[in-house]
Amino acid sequence: MPSILVTGGAGYIGSHTVVELFRADYKPVIIDNFSNSEKSVLKGIEAITGETISLYAGDCNDEQFVKHVFESEPEITGCIHFAAYKAVGESVEKPVQYYKNNINSLLELLSAMLKFNIKNLVFSSSCTVYGQPDDLPVTESSPVKKAESPYGNTKQICEEIIKDTVDATGKIKAVSLRYFNPVGAHPTSQIGELPIGTPNNLIPFLTQTVAGIREELIIFGDDYNTPDGTCVRDYIHVVDLAKAHVKALDYLEKEKNDSVYQVFNVGTGNGHTVLDVIKTFELATGEKVKYRIGIRRPGDIEKVWANADKIYEELNWKAERTLKQALYDAWNWQKVLKSRGK
Ligand code: UFG
Repeated sequence: MPSILVTGGAGYIGSHTVVELFRADYKPVIIDNFSNSEKSVLKGIEAITGETISLYAGDCNDEQFVKHVFESEPEITGCIHFAAYKAVGESVEKPVQYYKNNINSLLELLSAMLKFNIKNLVFSSSCTVYGQPDDLPVTESSPVKKAESPYGNTKQICEEIIKDTVDATGKIKAVSLRYFNPVGAHPTSQIGELPIGTPNNLIPFLTQTVAGIREELIIFGDDYNTPDGTCVRDYIHVVDLAKAHVKALDYLEKEKNDSVYQVFNVGTGNGHTVLDVIKTFELATGEKVKYRIGIRRPGDIEKVWANADKIYEELNWKAERTLKQALYDAWNWQKVLKSRGK
């Protein structure tokens, strides 16, 4: 059973991926510095899987720490690198912090992988690399646009660093997964998103509004060139997204070519407007969402959704859960958070 290092394994997507790794008979080893996650997540993973977590609490930017993990876990054959800062707005205010953390942690990880002869890397990228695409849906060969934020730029730069390293060394095989909008929670309600402070993203803001924690949801603009004027996104259930990581690892484990680098979109292939999301939430849960239309949020893309054919054709992955299911799971998770006083 190969061990897989999961940096940021206590985070939102990381924790769901750890569950799926166990299911697929990998042994995940988590690194997390708990800067944007909580130890209780580990209990949730253990409750779902019945497995005991191997955790190394520390920072990927710390060379000695990463070395210690690889020395202690000689069975590691691959890494999934989630650990990064991810708030678009915050990255505009704190670019140095974002560049330093997101790029340096990747560099430390790659250095350690080369030193310890670890071959496989799955990297957590984002559809943000496409900006506002000229043609929809976006394919992996759609042009990468100038990043709208330092956060988006770190994803572009990290993808380039990985490609250069694969090409130059021939010792690392890698996949970058370009996520569209991850939503939902584990259907057991044992793990889910844990936003700190006021959520920036639509779904946690919406569920907190319905739970009475926020007064109302503000829709950021209804004058876009879309069917109802609100922005369009491709919302993907976090469990489906987690499974894509396992498929990517399976592929890398089997791939004979020692210097392969592949990029995949991970989305459903369907676009939904913000108003669609609200209506679907109400249908899924029977709850009413209090909302009003506000002004546009600076930097928002009008519409983006994935062409996800490549990942289906090459990795045999496709999204299986509906938006309705994701919103139902997100709401159940919100109720658990509320019962915990959060
Ligand atoms: N929205 C609202 N009100 C809110 C929050 C969001 O109307 O209170 C709208 C946004 O305008 C957008 C949609 O809901 O149309 C989704 O917004 P999110 O903030 O949830 O997600 P984004 O699409 O802006 O950002 C996500 C990820 C980023 C990633 C980006 C790539 O959070 O990490 O996709 O496009 F970079």
